[in-house]
Amino acid sequence: MHNFTVPVALKAWIDHVVRVRRTFSVTPEGKLGALRDRPVFIAVSSGGRFSGERTHQPDFLTPYLRAILGTIGLHDLTFFSVDGSALSPDALAAARNKADREMQRFFLGFALNSTTVLQQAV
Ligand SMILES: Cc1cc2nc3c(=O)[nH]c(=O)nc-3n(C[C@H](O)[C@H](O)[C@H](O)COP(=O)(O)O)c2cc1C
Repeated sequence: MHNFTVPVALKAWIDHVVRVRRTFSVTPEGKLGALRDRPVFIAVSSGGRFSGERTHQPDFLTPYLRAILGTIGLHDLTFFSVDGSALSPDALAAARNKADREMQRFFLGFALNSTTVLQQAV
């Protein structure tokens, strides 16, 4: 997170990828994404906290990524965060451990579900 939103490098990538008649089209009902939806995993690192009760800053990053990736057809987003990296070494370690646990739990379930889907397909 940079200044409450995405860092400039990611914004530059978005501006190259999100292009009319390339990755979305304009219809009377609004913008229509050209990409097939698929799981997208987003890891967010931030110096302060940007969610939960002890938050003292706005989060334009999460809603922005939901809106812009949704524009090109990507709706199945999962966010992982290491927030509070600048608060203290202990806070950073705790945030890293929490994110590690969340990712391990999530991807274990994800792999099991994928295996089940594959088994059902054959
Ligand atoms: C230019 C800049 C702006 C930042 N803005 C925020 C911010 O708005 N909120 C926040 O929690 N952390 C902010 N940070 C801290 C980063 O989110 C933090 O260092 C994070 O761990 C990853 O930053 P990195 O891009 O330097 O690796 C900012 C850091 C930089 C360099």
